[in-house]
Amino acid sequence: MRIVLLGPPGAGKGTQARRLADRYGLAVIGTGDIFRDHVARGTPLGREAKAYMDRGEYVPDRIAVEMVLARLDQPDAREGFILDGFPRTVPQAQALERALTEAGRPLDAVLNFKISDEMAVKRLTSRLVCPNCKRVYNLSFKPPRVEGTCDVCGHELQLRNDDDEATILRRLDVYRTQTEPLVLYFWERGLLRDIDAEAPEEVVADRTIEAISDLSDLEA
Ligand code: AP5
Repeated sequence: MRIVLLGPPGAGKGTQARRLADRYGLAVIGTGDIFRDHVARGTPLGREAKAYMDRGEYVPDRIAVEMVLARLDQPDAREGFILDGFPRTVPQAQALERALTEAGRPLDAVLNFKISDEMAVKRLTSRLVCPNCKRVYNLSFKPPRVEGTCDVCGHELQLRNDDDEATILRRLDVYRTQTEPLVLYFWERGLLRDIDAEAPEEVVADRTIEAISDLSDLEA
């Protein structure tokens, strides 16, 4: 299965990507996580990406495209993948389409997670992340068992640099102008499947599984 998760900041793409990966054994390619990893390691790519990310803006297309196409060539991704946060612009979508068509591995579906701006702000201002194992928590909706500590690996949880309210609003604005055109782009290709993502995590998970239940190579 080859799917893309689309949706504004806070829609739950990362949360649902992890659940799908656990259920179906697929590789998750989360561009935000890959960029944050480069930033944490201080690589040249990380240094270039950081300024854009801290402002809530997108990293230039050439960087994102090169990074993702290289990742898609790795053996685990050849068996299928979940793209979380890519493509985000029309040029990124066109580059992905070209590469997958050439490889004879077209996309099966694009899941479009829909939430209101109010809910996005509410979720993101209360998000905590584990910088070690990348698990995501939420002070309002999914608190860790021990305050400030990852349930899985015990590492100290952190707020993300771009989760202050002003930067969240900027990210929502950037999403609307640069990424929302992809809804039409993928709809025209018959790939788009809308998911109401405003409900609790488990309900959204059921809706997500239902939305892809017709894809023939899926086995839980
Ligand atoms: P990225 O990390 O991808 O950020 P984003 O798209 O803004 O999305 P988020 O990770 O904030 O939200 P999410 O939808 O994954 O929600 P989550 O599951 O965490 O990208 C960061 C930056 O990297 C970008 O701004 C850009 O600079 C750069 N970048 C990345 N990709 C790029 C690209 N292709 N091109 C250029 N630049 C790129 O959930 C959020 C919170 O809500 C959590 O606390 C979670 O526990 C909670 N939650 C989730 N679902 C529910 C639910 N159903 N009910 C209640 N709470 C929920």
